[in-house]
Amino acid sequence: MAAVANPTAIHRILDEILGDAAPTAMAPSVLPAQCFTRLSVPRYPFRGDDPNMARPCWQDQRLHAEARYRHVQAVLRLSRLTLTDFRNYTALTWRPATRISVLYGPNGSGKTNLLEALSLLVPGRGLRGARHADLARQGGAGGWAVNARFHTRNGETSPGSGEASPGNGEINIGTGTDADTDRRVFRLDGSTTRSQADIARVVAAVWLTPQMDRLFQDGLTGRRRFLDRLVWALEPGHAREIAAHDTAVHSRNRLLAQRRPGNAPAGGSGTDPTAAARSPQHGSWLAGLEDAIARHAVAASAARLDLVTRLNAQIEVSLAQAFPPSRISLACPIVERLTSLPALAVEDWLRAGLEADRARDAAAGITALGAHRCDMRLTDVSTGTPAALASTGQHKALLIGIVLAHAGLIASARGFAPLLLLDEPSVHLDAGRRAALWNVLVTLPAQVIVTGTDADTFLPLAAHAEALLTGAGDLLADSRFIRSETDRTPVPAPR
Ligand SMILES: Nc1ncnc2c1ncn2[C@@H]1O[C@H](COP(=O)(O)OP(=O)(O)OP(=O)(O)O)[C@@H](O)[C@H]1O
Ligand SMILES: [Mg+2]
Repeated sequence: MAAVANPTAIHRILDEILGDAAPTAMAPSVLPAQCFTRLSVPRYPFRGDDPNMARPCWQDQRLHAEARYRHVQAVLRLSRLTLTDFRNYTALTWRPATRISVLYGPNGSGKTNLLEALSLLVPGRGLRGARHADLARQGGAGGWAVNARFHTRNGETSPGSGEASPGNGEINIGTGTDADTDRRVFRLDGSTTRSQADIARVVAAVWLTPQMDRLFQDGLTGRRRFLDRLVWALEPGHAREIAAHDTAVHSRNRLLAQRRPGNAPAGGSGTDPTAAARSPQHGSWLAGLEDAIARHAVAASAARLDLVTRLNAQIEVSLAQAFPPSRISLACPIVERLTSLPALAVEDWLRAGLEADRARDAAAGITALGAHRCDMRLTDVSTGTPAALASTGQHKALLIGIVLAHAGLIASARGFAPLLLLDEPSVHLDAGRRAALWNVLVTLPAQVIVTGTDADTFLPLAAHAEALLTGAGDLLADSRFIRSETDRTPVPAPR
């Protein structure tokens, strides 16, 4: 059982999921209290006096009344961004002039780098999942820094409570590493934060990147990571649940592997893979690990199911007009059972299944049951086409729908809209879908930063957005759009 509690292993997995957010204490659940229909079993996203009768919150019809951005009370606006030795930026200060900013420029001019800098203002490894060392400018001193000032209007997001309260305010967030250490720090209003959860309470960001363009065509690991990030943004405890689960699975696989032919420990009971089940010591170790897998798998699956249910409801109310209505589902026997059975019964089923599968799993070198086998599916409801079979543009439209709906969910839960970072969202979209996207962006309360290689693509946004040409580690304002304060030499309008 020592392996289950091994903090190094847990840390490694957490780090893989969350990057920098891993070692910090997680914030309490941000799901609205109404989500919990009764109070009891603390590890599931539902509660009940009798754990066997706990009613999951995804069955609560009230959730379906959540309209997009319904509960937004505070407005979060980036008023200044400073980059120091960050990727290709030696020293940049940008003061966004409008709620929507377009960054355009040729390949390699720094568009994604700037979005990445913004994505690092929230806990985690940012939109590229990059290592710290890669973020520091090559040729620089070795450290990097991203500092941002946010204004809050019509409500101030108080760092202490995360609750929106009346008044106007300012929040300063800084993050980075110095040349001597790889350790990343966060500063909130000038003070180093004890926990990154302090940051997560006051600022949030969601993003879409070109790397997601094949999310539903490629392997399930990327999809599951994407799903878990969506869950984690609303349920901070989810990352630890997944980490503990995966650690237990690794430990079980290792223990079972010791019993494979040729791997028997000295003095062990030979090469029969079923011997593990017969050895009392190994049997009890395995039982402990399987108990951990069952508990964490059911908790993680319940959180995933909750998120998917809320997201589907959100997609229904918010995006039906603009994008093809889609439906997310989870291909997972644990989730399947959670829709009809009490959570504790599902735990029992999983525990028994793991025990029964020991010999088969030992031979195959895997754990065939668990939260790590969950897959996420997406279907275009209007045509019945699964995202895996969708065209590139259809796939992109479906994905944009999910990201926007997720932003709406965060806004409803937190009381302020997250930053929306859209890297090349219009690539692959036809004219109609592109226009629909611009229309949605114009109506959202969120601060939006959107990139592309060609300014003309964004001209329909000219009355609503500033546009900045990226290059040489700087930004130049485009005079055809709303003028930015950043402005050094404006880009002249073409004749
Ligand atoms: N650590 C670093 N130090 C210096 N330059 C870097 C570093 N990391 C990346 N770069 C460079 O920054 C430049 C801008 O990269 P970025 O990904 O932002 O380009 P982009 O404008 O998004 O291009 P594309 O249109 O191809 O997506 C690239 O030339 C890249 O090589
Ligand atoms: Mg790019």
